[in-house]
Amino acid sequence: MKKTIRDIDVAGKTVLVRVDFNVPLKDGKVADDTRIKEAVPTLAYLLGKGAKLVVMSHLGRPEGVDSKYSMKPVAKRLRELMNVNVVLANDVAGPDSVEKLKRLKSGILMLENLRFEAGEEACDEEFVSRLASLGDIYVNDAFGTAHRKHASTYGIASKLPNAIGLLMQNEVESINRALIHADRPFTAILGGAKVSDKLKMIYSLLDRVDNILIGGAMAYTFLKAQGYSVGISKIEPDMVTDASNILSRAHDMGVKIYLPCDHIIADSVTDPKKILHDKCTNIPDNMMGMDIGSRTIRQFRRVIKSSGTILWNGPMGIFETPSFAKGTKSICKAISKSHAYSIVGGGDSAAAVVKFGYAKGISHISTGGGASLKMFEGKELPAVSVIEDL
Ligand code: 3PG
Repeated sequence: MKKTIRDIDVAGKTVLVRVDFNVPLKDGKVADDTRIKEAVPTLAYLLGKGAKLVVMSHLGRPEGVDSKYSMKPVAKRLRELMNVNVVLANDVAGPDSVEKLKRLKSGILMLENLRFEAGEEACDEEFVSRLASLGDIYVNDAFGTAHRKHASTYGIASKLPNAIGLLMQNEVESINRALIHADRPFTAILGGAKVSDKLKMIYSLLDRVDNILIGGAMAYTFLKAQGYSVGISKIEPDMVTDASNILSRAHDMGVKIYLPCDHIIADSVTDPKKILHDKCTNIPDNMMGMDIGSRTIRQFRRVIKSSGTILWNGPMGIFETPSFAKGTKSICKAISKSHAYSIVGGGDSAAAVVKFGYAKGISHISTGGGASLKMFEGKELPAVSVIEDL
């Protein structure tokens, strides 16, 4: 068991809190503040216990200092959400941070984007020490970045007494509940573009689950491996052998893999002139699969309804386009209506349940795409394993 903020005394201390405020921006404003909102309980708890906070995050993937990636809009949104003093430093643990922290009587000092410093991703010793010199205690609440071994997520833990925050604790416990203590049948629903991104996860899940439902573009690589024609669907030719191995290993292990048996097909992704409901598994030569069809939806729904645990990662089709959204929307609905303990991995699937209004019916929606994927692969998260045990 890892130490959490409930296990440490922070009164009168300066606490360095790593959060994942890597949020989408639009027109200079935060377009989706979910990650900021989810970190508020940890920040409010620490402030309530009498700590002063230095909050730090990365935003995007800037190459050095780039005002496009400034934390300014994020600091503004945090100020609005918490209604506390949030001061933004102009640098990352440089002279301005030190000066502003000295003057901060209470509330939050937010550092500029951690990735403005090359030392962050390199986990550079000098940068780690500079960050650590700003606080007495280190707290990591950045689940979305917990698979990264960076200065602020990994290196710094060896310099200061430390603990995980409430968001990190909830993410890890919720996902582990599904992976380790699953009520059967355990069903994984996998979608999205690429088999290659999910290969390790699929192999690891074969040991744990009873059913795997596969949709999205990755399904066509599996259908190809089974000898079906897939038209001009986006497949990964060099993954066909892996897909075939997965299917035969699943068969040997008694894991049922369900692939689409009908599709919504079109002649182009960007400018479709022809959109059809194709009732066959084979796709005609000049067409590509864009979404799962209605027979597939019914079959997937039946499996979902009878499941005790559901883990979902990746959409069933190009759900951003209304004509190809029905499969993903139906899966959101079926999961939210089921009695299963359900986990939705971050990224596109999390965006879909929110977009279609089914978030309430999901047991846990993760704030981390890459990090939740690592956990589904059965791997430890470096940023969690480096935290002190209780
Ligand atoms: C994410 O959004 O997945 C995390 O913030 C990690 O970002 P990264 O992939 O740029 O490290």
